[in-house]
Amino acid sequence: MKLTKKVLAVVLAMLMLTATFAMTASANVSDYILKFNEDGKFKIMMFADSQDDDDLEETTAQLMREALAAYTPDLVIYMGDNSVAPGEKQADAIAAIVAPVIEAGVPFTVVFGNHDQEQGVPNEDLLKEYQKFPGCLAYDAVPSLYGCGNHNLPILASNGIGVAFNLWMIDSGTTTAEAGGYDYVREDQINWYKDTAKALSLLNGGEVVPAMAFQHIIVPEVYDALGMMKIPFGVGEWTFDGQAYLPIPNFGSFTGFLFEPPCPSHINGGQFDAWVETGDVMATFYGHDHVNSFTTTYEGIDITTVPTVGCNSYSNDMNRGVGLITLDENDLTTYEYEVLPMYDFALAEGSKILDCEGALSKTSYQFNKFMAEFLAKLHSVFSGFSLPSFG
Ligand SMILES: [Fe+2]
Repeated sequence: MKLTKKVLAVVLAMLMLTATFAMTASANVSDYILKFNEDGKFKIMMFADSQDDDDLEETTAQLMREALAAYTPDLVIYMGDNSVAPGEKQADAIAAIVAPVIEAGVPFTVVFGNHDQEQGVPNEDLLKEYQKFPGCLAYDAVPSLYGCGNHNLPILASNGIGVAFNLWMIDSGTTTAEAGGYDYVREDQINWYKDTAKALSLLNGGEVVPAMAFQHIIVPEVYDALGMMKIPFGVGEWTFDGQAYLPIPNFGSFTGFLFEPPCPSHINGGQFDAWVETGDVMATFYGHDHVNSFTTTYEGIDITTVPTVGCNSYSNDMNRGVGLITLDENDLTTYEYEVLPMYDFALAEGSKILDCEGALSKTSYQFNKFMAEFLAKLHSVFSGFSLPSFG
């Protein structure tokens, strides 16, 4: 693929981008340049599917605050289905979900989910609302691309010399008649990703810059990653990329919780193959399926669903929480990831979650913790069990 001047301009622009927003916010430029810390670490916290209106649940906001205070991330990523207030109240809903992050002084970025733009305000306008807040690093790299807010954020080495890591934020769309349901990442987005990754590698002495990708809707490859039972024909609901499945996984193929069949698009636009071909993306993170919080691996790339942080959207109370990635620039061939469940925050000494309107009782949080640990043990018993494939 030929590199265009536009792509190179985008790479240079993104290196300067954080400075632009920092100046807008009247803060120090260095406050918003993403850089590994002196200890070599960089922490990314993910808030998935907060999915609330302008009257944000107190418990959701307090969970965000306590997670931010306890783990002091260097960046927060909103994973889509962030705000779902009707019409003009979307601006207030966005203000509510970013408030804990602004208070903590942490930079943040955003991907959109299938529900954000369903409230009558286009994602382009929602993006402008986010960009009004200090520390918002989200931007629309090439507005002509499918979707809105496709962008990447490089993380500099701790010595400030060179890009050590890269984060891709991709718009996985909403629902379309063409896809017969959830949307998929389109060819122009994939070409932008490949071109930009190539441009970054040129700036990195020809070596690919290791990366992670963040988007709302999961890729169809998750069905093969989970060892879902292939069948020669089936119902349309569980037919992805022309292959029918029964949503029964190989329990040994994943860690964490799988409480509902993942919901990718029925169409595969080739995004995962592009990641494999390019070789920069080691791990991918998604929202969308609120009650799932599993990690699985396919063709060397990790696939992780982040459970919902929202207390006003569908979920179960066993795995509501936030996701936390810890990178170490001394070894960027790997990373640490953990789900931080809400019950652990609610049960921690000094937590104010129990005092919030809408909170569960302490006993309920204790029960949820017990059940989560029990199911994790049960999962380990079934981890050697899988069904044959007939597809
Ligand atoms: Fe959602």
